[in-house]
Amino acid sequence: MKDYIKIHPWKVIENNFHPEFNRISESIFSLGNGHMGLRGNFEEKYSGDSLQGTYVGGVYYPDKTRVGWWKNGYPEYFAKVLNSTNWIGMCVEVDGEILDLNKGTIHSFQRILDMKEGHLSRTVIFEFPKGNKVLIESTRFVSMIYPEVGVLKYSITPLNFSGDIKIISYLDGDVINEDSNYEEKFWEEVDKESSSYEGHVTLKTKKLNFHLCTAMKYDVSLNKEKIYPSAKCSEKEKYIANEFSLSCNKNDTLTIYKYVAITSSRNHLIENLKDKAYRILNKAFEEGFDELLLKQINTWENIWAKSDIVIEGDDSSQQGIRFNIFQLYQTYTGEDHRLNIGPKGFTGEKYGGVTYWDTEAYCIPFYMSTCDKEIAKNLLIYRYDHLRKAKENARKLGFTKGALYPMVTMNGEECHNEWEITFEEIHRNGAIAYAIYNYVNYTGDKSYLEEYGFEVLVEISRFWEERVNFSQDKNAYVILGVTGPNEYENNVNNNWYTNRIAVWTLQYTLEVMDYLKTKDYNNYNKLISLLNLQDKEINKWKDIINHMYYPFDSKRNIFLQQDGFLDKNLSILAKDLCLNELPLNQHWSWDRILRSPYIKQADVLQGLYFLEHEYDLETIRKNFDFYEPLTVHESSLSPCVHSILASRLGYKDKAYELYLRTARLDLNDYNNDARDGCHITSMAGTWMSIVYGFAGMAVKNHTLVLNPYLPKQWESYSFNIIFRECPVKIQVNLGDVVITNKGINHIKVKLFNKEYLLPSEEKLVVTK
Ligand code: BGC
Repeated sequence: MKDYIKIHPWKVIENNFHPEFNRISESIFSLGNGHMGLRGNFEEKYSGDSLQGTYVGGVYYPDKTRVGWWKNGYPEYFAKVLNSTNWIGMCVEVDGEILDLNKGTIHSFQRILDMKEGHLSRTVIFEFPKGNKVLIESTRFVSMIYPEVGVLKYSITPLNFSGDIKIISYLDGDVINEDSNYEEKFWEEVDKESSSYEGHVTLKTKKLNFHLCTAMKYDVSLNKEKIYPSAKCSEKEKYIANEFSLSCNKNDTLTIYKYVAITSSRNHLIENLKDKAYRILNKAFEEGFDELLLKQINTWENIWAKSDIVIEGDDSSQQGIRFNIFQLYQTYTGEDHRLNIGPKGFTGEKYGGVTYWDTEAYCIPFYMSTCDKEIAKNLLIYRYDHLRKAKENARKLGFTKGALYPMVTMNGEECHNEWEITFEEIHRNGAIAYAIYNYVNYTGDKSYLEEYGFEVLVEISRFWEERVNFSQDKNAYVILGVTGPNEYENNVNNNWYTNRIAVWTLQYTLEVMDYLKTKDYNNYNKLISLLNLQDKEINKWKDIINHMYYPFDSKRNIFLQQDGFLDKNLSILAKDLCLNELPLNQHWSWDRILRSPYIKQADVLQGLYFLEHEYDLETIRKNFDFYEPLTVHESSLSPCVHSILASRLGYKDKAYELYLRTARLDLNDYNNDARDGCHITSMAGTWMSIVYGFAGMAVKNHTLVLNPYLPKQWESYSFNIIFRECPVKIQVNLGDVVITNKGINHIKVKLFNKEYLLPSEEKLVVTK
């Protein structure tokens, strides 16, 4: 765990430069606007450890699969969101020396991510090796209102000398993805041009023909007066630059305002890309930095108004949740339904910017509750649109029917190629079905089922039907050779969670079928014949539901994670492991991990969390008490689920400890991996730890259920949700709970087990 980030309710602050943590800071100080983003790299040259990263959502490359031993069924490629043109580049030269924070003396350093206003700034006093001292100040943002626009204000002030300062403002598309399988460069140059104060670079990907045009324009001022130094253009492959030199007096401030527009062939015709980029760029340039910044602040103000969680009395928790909410909206705004939520968003290359089960299992609740329901619906439709490919995927693996959604995807095709995940982590199919239930239950929008949901459910059910087999020995259906959510065990038989979610899917599909039948019989018949759903299939589903085998330990009264779990050496709990061996995945051999009883993330408990309404508290308690102490939480997705269940069980200290672990996972680098990027998808889990955990929120029978408590470290907390089209504010204080319905309809609320009808614009105050 690291604690070099200063605690502040609205800001993420690094005081003093920590070069040893620079990659972590680059992840944490990332910026994004749902459409594109970049890591917190320095504008000027930096020869120390750094991962330069600029990404545009959906612009990816099918990087040819690289494996030691090819297995039939592997995908041909792994899709990667591409590192693209670096647009913040500024090279500063004084007296023949290039400014490089790795080669000189840093007298003071501060970088601040202002989450309230949505920008990143940095102030540095730097001394060049020859002794010239400068103050550098920079502020940049990617516009939330103009998704293709990025803006940078960069100032330099000589502090102990007068003399020439040379600035090179550049665009550099000659970039690589560090995780490229064959160290291949993915971009080719299409065209470029530079003239005084502006220029562009257009690139295209070697495969798939994505085109990206990055255009820049800048102006310069000296002590706030606009000046027009003569600029020299230069070009290299995939690179353009503008260079000018200015003689400055001591304490003069030279400022460059750099504007960029980045257009891609995802949104524009290739032949119009350059013109579009310049049109967007010129508009941004005319508005100017201050106006664009104001719009940025206003946009974030609106986002915070609907999604902020305010925690009084604990700035560490406050900073954590705001950082999580901020990163979620930087990653996905819901405006482009073709995009999804990559586990690292725009903050790093790991996981390639592609879609995982994380979206359905973790992110949907956040977007469903804080945004218009269309956004969550779009996330579901994203999978509906991939149904054909999911069916193809199942055929590729030898199934004669049904759909197997990919574990990792960009366009619906599987692109993960570790056999234990690609072929075995089939539980992901269950999460996709569960998300449909979750959405319908929360929003009440049953029309989704008819239009899209039922078809997806049927195809997933068909997959389960064929994936199970009947064991004569057990006289029950079993599911063999799987990996559950806990990736620290592979190729196990009867992972309880997988068996349970498979049966749950079958049950829910039948339930939806009954609903559709009663709702509109004619339409139902049409759907059934369209899907060619046969009675014999339905009967088989019922048989599987009634005769599924679930591993169970009757001594402890717990569900078993898999058939062989109790054969493991269970004598050492996770808390007794040596600290210097954690995280296990960075210290132990894979063989040792697989044989150990240590659990990466919720597995049985994932099932009890999803299906909590089907289990009593004692069952949850017994399983939690057994599994949590063996859990190392080395997946970012782990602490949040455990925190929610701990809240439910009244384990308040545990719930709080795990809340901090999820909320501050990247800020404190708990898992020693934030250097690869922030854990964006688990951030939605942080939101759930408060809303589902501390506040005990659920929706049952169209009623908003709340059972809140106040962690003892907090004075109060409040959050906003949208429930059945009504904005609702929930405020939990020491002595009371206040629920305000700001909507135009009444809503049904159940608070501490008592039901209320809460009319529009009214408040419910219940003293504890
Ligand atoms: C977890 C998976 C998750 C993936 C992306 C892995 O470490 O085990 O469950 O889908 O990360 O977040």
